[in-house]
Amino acid sequence: MQKPPVLPKPTLPGLPREGKLSNTKAAAPVRIRPDAIRARKGGVPIVSLTAYSYPIARLIDPHVDLILVGDSVAMVVHGHANTLGATLDMMILHGQAVMRGTERACVVVDLPAGSYEGSIEAARAAARRIRDATGCQAVKLEGGLSVAAQIAAIVADGIPVMAHIGLQPQSVEKEGGYKIKGRSQAAIDALRRDAEAVEAAGAFAVVIEGTVEPVAASLTKALAIPTIGIGASAACDGQILVIDDMLGLTVGHVPKFVREYGGLREQVTAAVASYASDVRDRRFPGPEHVFPPQRGGGG
Ligand code: KIV
Repeated sequence: MQKPPVLPKPTLPGLPREGKLSNTKAAAPVRIRPDAIRARKGGVPIVSLTAYSYPIARLIDPHVDLILVGDSVAMVVHGHANTLGATLDMMILHGQAVMRGTERACVVVDLPAGSYEGSIEAARAAARRIRDATGCQAVKLEGGLSVAAQIAAIVADGIPVMAHIGLQPQSVEKEGGYKIKGRSQAAIDALRRDAEAVEAAGAFAVVIEGTVEPVAASLTKALAIPTIGIGASAACDGQILVIDDMLGLTVGHVPKFVREYGGLREQVTAAVASYASDVRDRRFPGPEHVFPPQRGGGG
């Protein structure tokens, strides 16, 4: 059995470094709750990333405020063409893995397309199922005015909701592609109505995706809840990216709004090519990787 890795040092000052997932007995970090995210309006920007697996959750937990188990998992992990391939069972499985790997970040799990738009009762049931099965801190759903009643009902059930307006990937088929929002006065007015509706319904934060920069900035000014931008504006109260995109691991199209902070595509390719040539040339395993016969041992 290999030793568990030591958690990396958090980048934020004043945060406990190690807890129950670590090797030492230091006090467990305090879980960041949706109320604390809401209170960050206008303050130090909220650092958010998606995660779908236990190891990535463990690695990023000390560094981020909010982790989204996004329905982008359908594309990133499962190879679907869009997020419409996500299911409730899929979100629960990945939500459970991420919850096992975190002790500090506020974990939000996406409600997949088809699980909440149809009725308030369906939305409440889906949110309850995800929260009860994963223990996540909140759920997220896409839409503004059209899902405000769902948001209000889920919040009334005691489950915090993060909203998602602007470009909504779950509408890709309906809209015939991924369309940037806020390019006409009518679109700006609709965004404003959506933003005000999700705030009034009780969302603790709202993702603004794929929206013209000054419009995202002015929505941020207008709202009392934090905005989390993706392809939006540096003026948003926080930012989010898909983890594989920012690690440079995405194979295929990388959206314009992504900055790659790592080069994992190239590292994975080089590591696997090196392993393949070592195996073919019998350089792996080496003497240090095999078990010599031992007197008194079992087996
Ligand atoms: O599913 C997802 O990853 C998202 C983020 C891009 C905001 O909704």
